[in-house]
Amino acid sequence: MSFDFDTVIPRKDSGCIKFDRKPELDPFWVADMDFVSAPPILKALHDRVDHGIFGYAHPHAGVTEAVRSYLKERRAVELNEDHLLHLGGLVPALSLAARAFCEDGGELLTCTPVYYPFLNVHKDAGAKLLTVDHVMKNGRWEFDWEAMEETVTEKTKIFLLCNPQNPLGRVFTEEEIIRLAEFCEKHDLLLISDEIHCDLILDENQPHFSALNLPEHFQKRVVALLSPSKTWNIAGLGYAFAIIPDDSVRRRFSAEKGHTLAEINALSYYATEAAYNEGEPWRLELIEYLRSNRDELVRFINEECKGLKIHSPDVTYLAWIDARDLGVPNPAKFFEQEAGLFLSDGAPFGWAGYVRFNFACPRSRMLEGLEKMKKAIDSKV
Ligand SMILES: Cc1ncc(COP(=O)(O)O)c(C=O)c1O
Repeated sequence: MSFDFDTVIPRKDSGCIKFDRKPELDPFWVADMDFVSAPPILKALHDRVDHGIFGYAHPHAGVTEAVRSYLKERRAVELNEDHLLHLGGLVPALSLAARAFCEDGGELLTCTPVYYPFLNVHKDAGAKLLTVDHVMKNGRWEFDWEAMEETVTEKTKIFLLCNPQNPLGRVFTEEEIIRLAEFCEKHDLLLISDEIHCDLILDENQPHFSALNLPEHFQKRVVALLSPSKTWNIAGLGYAFAIIPDDSVRRRFSAEKGHTLAEINALSYYATEAAYNEGEPWRLELIEYLRSNRDELVRFINEECKGLKIHSPDVTYLAWIDARDLGVPNPAKFFEQEAGLFLSDGAPFGWAGYVRFNFACPRSRMLEGLEKMKKAIDSKV
């Protein structure tokens, strides 16, 4: 490996949510990585800092060109610049979508378990949330099409899709995304597709199918949301972008911003440009490292941790662990109290009884965390 993913870098007291929210615990929760970002990104940031002036930012031509070539090379999409909106983060875009399209008694539909802001942004719009559980079928997590048909109503306005899926670690196929678009067409829903994890597919023979890859006639209902932030570990810089092909949908989305969103971070544009233009060698090694962490974690959980089960994730660095057989009322609390670990509790994702373990860390640190889990389980009376 030419990049170092093994060194444990102290993060405590660096003003990071992961380590500093509950400093007494060993954290494997929020979705950022304990790795230094790619060297070209650090260089771009240093260069921009050396300029020394941080007035209001503007998307310079280089960042738009970087997004254009990323979309073309990685997503097989030709950018129409009119369709591009730069944003200071992806979660605010989910909220904007809810506010723009679900006000006045509208409903928002999504499938659970899912990244928890999906289950909360309806509150920003005073809208109603409808949820349907994913189901395990043919050895993988799938949409429950029948339940979705039973749940959707005439008031439902948008479907929030997590593509690929956090926390299930599923890469949906072209057939599934097309079927979902047909469902949206049938019920006249907009398809809001959060694709933040799409460059973290661990088995690259499972291609990501973006909502932007849907046949042309579906594009008028697509809002695609992407970002380099998860892949290159720059989430704290706050950047995402939306591609919204339909003019009136884009206008409504943009109009909803009003004065509610902060200006985009000046540094984030340069980090994004470097990530997309020069970050590929680092990304490829990261994927390799994460894949071997995943394989060891899945083996460990399934073979050494009584009461825990996991279905191997295909994408990203978040392990969704079924702890319902552990026999404790709240598994995340149990591991906090008995192992000193900070894991994500499944309940806010819609499924209590599960925990999510972030394995984007040096192998030694991951193994220490897993050993602590096993010890807590083995000493449980
Ligand atoms: C599916 C998904 N969307 C969005 C985000 C966060 O996006 P942002 O930091 O740009 O608001 C995360 C972070 O974990 C995520 O998993």
